[in-house]
Amino acid sequence: MTKSITITRPDDWHLHLRDGDMLRAVLPETARDFGRAIIMPNLVPPVVTSKDAAAYRDRIMAALPTVTSFKPLMTLYLTERTDPADVAAAFEDGLIHAVKYYPAGATTNSDSGVSNIKNVMQVLEKMSEIGLNLCIHGEVTNPEIDIFDREAVFIDTILDPLRSELPDLRITSEHITTKQGVDYVKSADQNLGASITTHHLIINRNHILAGGIKPHYYCLPVAKREEHRLALRAAATSGDARFFLGTDSAPHTDANKLLPCGCAGCFTATNTLSCLAHVFEEDGALDQLEKFASLNGPAHYRLAPNADTITLQKENSAVIYPKSIATADGDVTVFDPGFDLRWRVA
Ligand code: DOR
Ligand code: ZN
Repeated sequence: MTKSITITRPDDWHLHLRDGDMLRAVLPETARDFGRAIIMPNLVPPVVTSKDAAAYRDRIMAALPTVTSFKPLMTLYLTERTDPADVAAAFEDGLIHAVKYYPAGATTNSDSGVSNIKNVMQVLEKMSEIGLNLCIHGEVTNPEIDIFDREAVFIDTILDPLRSELPDLRITSEHITTKQGVDYVKSADQNLGASITTHHLIINRNHILAGGIKPHYYCLPVAKREEHRLALRAAATSGDARFFLGTDSAPHTDANKLLPCGCAGCFTATNTLSCLAHVFEEDGALDQLEKFASLNGPAHYRLAPNADTITLQKENSAVIYPKSIATADGDVTVFDPGFDLRWRVA
C-alpha cells in the first residue's frame, strides 16, 4: 500500500554548494526538491564582501537547471576585517540573509574566521540593530578541549555571553549535535533558533568509529553519543518552532574524503527528504515533518513559507539512489543512512 504526505515545499537552512564544476554537479540535487537554501560562504577564497556575494549568487543562478524556482539565500563570511556598513548595505539590498561566524580553524576553509569575538563586535552590534541573522558554527577550537566537548564549551564561553551582551541579535545555532545544544536553545525565549542536519538524526559516533573507520560519516561538528542523537531527534520531531532543517550537505570528492587527513562533511542533498520521512515516521511524527522542514525555518528567518508543495510517497520496495554523484573533480559519495529508504519525492 502506498502512503503519501503532502507538505509545503521545504527549504535547507544550511547548504554547501562550492563553486565551478562542483557547484554545477551538486546544485540540481538540492534544486530538485527545495525552494530555498542558505548558502554557506566558505569558498576559497571566502565570500566576504557584498560584491563577493553578488558575484557568487550570479554563478549559482547561471548553474541552475532551467526549470526551477529554487532561490539561493546568500550569506557573508564574517572576518575580523568585515565592514559593518558593507554588511548593512547587503542586507538592505535584499542580497544577504545572514552572516556566518566560523571560529578560526574550526572546520573546512575557516582560516579567515574569528579568532577573538571582541574583534567583530562592531559588526554584531550593527546586525543586532538592523535585525540581520548571525549563523554560528558553535565549536571552540582550543586544542586542549576534547573534540566531543567543543560545542558544549562554545555555548558556555562564547554563545551565552554574546546573547547576554546583545539580546536583540538574531542567532542560528547551526547544526547542533548535543543535548546541551538542544537544552540551551529551548532555554531561550527569543532570537535563538537551531538548525539540525539530516545525518545527525541518523548517526552517532559509533557509526564513524566502530568496526572500522567510516570517513563518509565524518563531519564537523562530529556526531556524538547516542543520547545526543536521541535529544536531536526529540527536538526535530517535536514541532518546536526553534528547530529546523539545515542539512549541512557538504560535498567533497572521495579522493579528498579518503585521505590520511580526510575532509569533514556528509553529502546528503540527494536523499535528505527520504531520510527525514523515514526518521519522522519511525518516531511516529510524520505530522511534524512539515514544521521541521518547511515552516519553522522561514519563521526564524522572517520569510513566508514557500507557496507550493511537494508530495512524499512511501513505496513497497526500497528507493534506489545513486551511490555517488559524478563531478569533473571526481565522485562525491551520497550519504548512506544504513537502512532502506522507502519514501521518495513524487
Ligand atoms: O562537516 C563539515 N563540512 N562541517 C563544516 O562545518 C564545513 C563543511 C564543509 O564545508 O565541508
Ligand atoms: Zn556547514
